[in-house]
Amino acid sequence: MCKTIAFLLLFNNMKKRLLSGVKPTGAPHIGNYFGAMRQFVDLQDEYESFVMIADYHALNFIHNKQEMEKNILDVTLDYLGIGIDPEKVIIFKQSDISAHTELAWIFDTITTMPYLMRAHAYKDAEAKNAEINVGTFNYPMLMAADILLYDPEIVPVGSDQKQHVEYARDTAQKFNKIYGDTFILPKELIMKDVATIPGTDGQKMSKSYKNTIPLFGTDEEIKKAVMGIVTDSKTPEEPKNPDECNIFALHKLFLQGEQLQNLRDKYSKGGMSYKESKEMLFEEILALVKPMRERREMYRNNIDTVKEILNKGKEKAKSIADTKMNIIRSNIGVNI
Ligand code: ADP
Ligand code: TRP
Repeated sequence: MCKTIAFLLLFNNMKKRLLSGVKPTGAPHIGNYFGAMRQFVDLQDEYESFVMIADYHALNFIHNKQEMEKNILDVTLDYLGIGIDPEKVIIFKQSDISAHTELAWIFDTITTMPYLMRAHAYKDAEAKNAEINVGTFNYPMLMAADILLYDPEIVPVGSDQKQHVEYARDTAQKFNKIYGDTFILPKELIMKDVATIPGTDGQKMSKSYKNTIPLFGTDEEIKKAVMGIVTDSKTPEEPKNPDECNIFALHKLFLQGEQLQNLRDKYSKGGMSYKESKEMLFEEILALVKPMRERREMYRNNIDTVKEILNKGKEKAKSIADTKMNIIRSNIGVNI
């Protein structure tokens, strides 16, 4: 092997590992992009990255073959569209690697019900539903398995997933204590400035609040959402407080330094309407989204390539997960 390749391989092996998962449950919004998705692109050179389509987690919410199939491909396209490079990042489907559900079962046997009942997601579901399925209850254990099988150092997520990564870390610790050192303890990575992106009504942007700006919407859909951002009823002439404005909160994602300061000044001076501010925001969003949309479209027209990417991801993820699973099975005493 030539020296350069050997060096590159060595260098690659020294990279820290990153893993994250994405539920294929619907079209992503600007909040998903800035809060979670973008990190995978930003970190793909620095880390050996695994991005998983968490279809078995989505199975808690979707019980329809066509919808599941469509969502899996859509979310894969979304990630390729935002710029994840399939040559650098291992993109794979959770359901392709049976070690995830196997390890979730093993974790179930060392986890108590009261511990899982303290999870935010469970409590939220309990507050909303009379009946909760076992999959929702068990969600953190499947997620712990997703993470721990691959020994990642970091797990980039939005702030609402922090507790789930803590559960994975706790579970690793508990397992290591019972069976000896098996897992490294992963840490969540949460981008501070964008921990919670506000929606068009000022609450956290979320599909469940119907206050989203779609990332891959048409121009019209994006415009409609932006024009619908809730403001107070100040006239164009009146001075406005940027720090109390839902439009300005979103501008902050796109503008920095002088540009942001100029807009801040326009707000304070008066003379600029909210409509004008919304139109500017619309243009800022389009400038970001257009190239991504084109890339997504390119892959959508080559769906066999997308399936091939998932197949390659499966092979790579499977070899790592199977090796780890063998160690785990040995440590718990079932490999005789
Ligand atoms: P939603 O609340 O719209 O259903 P998901 O729960 O599917 O969003 O979130 C997917 C990812 O995007 C998670 O990592 C989550 O933390 C992140 N995320 C979702 N909404 C926001 C937001 N408003 N601000 C920052 N990150 C977000
Ligand atoms: N629970 C995460 C979400 O709702 C998705 C997810 C599943 C995940 N498995 C994971 C995230 C492993 C990080 C690591 O967004």
